[in-house]
Amino acid sequence: MPNDPLFQFIDVSYEAGGNKILSRINFAVHKGEFLAVLGASGAGKSSLLRMFNSLTSPSQGQINFRTQNIDSDIQCLRKNVGILFQNPVVFSGNIRDNLLAAGRWDNNIAQTLDHELTHALEQVEMGNIELTHNAKDLSGGEQQRLALARTLLNHPQVLLLDEPTSNLDPKLSRSIMDLVDKLRKTLKLTVIAVSHDHLLMRRYAGRVIVLSRGEIVGDGPFKALDRSAVFEKAGLLGNEVNDET
Ligand SMILES: Nc1ncnc2c1ncn2[C@@H]1O[C@H](COP(=O)(O)OP(=O)(O)O)[C@@H](O)[C@H]1O
Ligand SMILES: [Mg+2]
Repeated sequence: MPNDPLFQFIDVSYEAGGNKILSRINFAVHKGEFLAVLGASGAGKSSLLRMFNSLTSPSQGQINFRTQNIDSDIQCLRKNVGILFQNPVVFSGNIRDNLLAAGRWDNNIAQTLDHELTHALEQVEMGNIELTHNAKDLSGGEQQRLALARTLLNHPQVLLLDEPTSNLDPKLSRSIMDLVDKLRKTLKLTVIAVSHDHLLMRRYAGRVIVLSRGEIVGDGPFKALDRSAVFEKAGLLGNEVNDET
């Protein structure tokens, strides 16, 4: 059915090391959404995000991906659901080596031709950089774009972002998020972005889930929530670093 959710969390809780990290999480994500998950440090954002590609599994409850249990085909899940972390994963070697590392999830990628790799670089606006360029010589922003290009080679439906710009200055953060948003539109991606930076996220996300101490304390359109007491209660106000211009 066209309106079936892409992901559905049903009464999901997560405990680790004797800590209750997520409690009774219920929500659904639909195709094409740009969802921001906001919360203070330690709220459980990364734990929640990692569940979308089964890097973390619930202690209780169930997660469905396209109506099936999320663990029913992990290889298919990981190919469809790419993730970018705060510190981009960069392997030793050149850009080509780094892009071909996507082959962990796609058996065909080892045969990927250079023009496809160059196309992925163009998608992340790095078409001017040679495939033979040493990846470790790239700037922080370029390394994040390279990690994004590697993910795109798997033709994902979903992009998970875990504070992908918190090591970058505000201008670079905006340019990476502008790129992600452009790709969301052109490639019809669903984007789920975890952040503590509500001023950055409100530029892009239509919907926000607010996490506080492992519980969802707000879920709705950004405009309805971002000036509300929910944000204050979740520790999101104060210390904002990005300007609103
Ligand atoms: N595997 C784990 N074992 C024990 N505690 C954990 C584990 N993973 C996360 N935590 C704790 O759970 C809380 C939430 O962590 P995390 O999901 O990383 O939050 P956030 O990304 O919002 O900062 C933190 O207090 C963290 O120390
Ligand atoms: Mg985190």
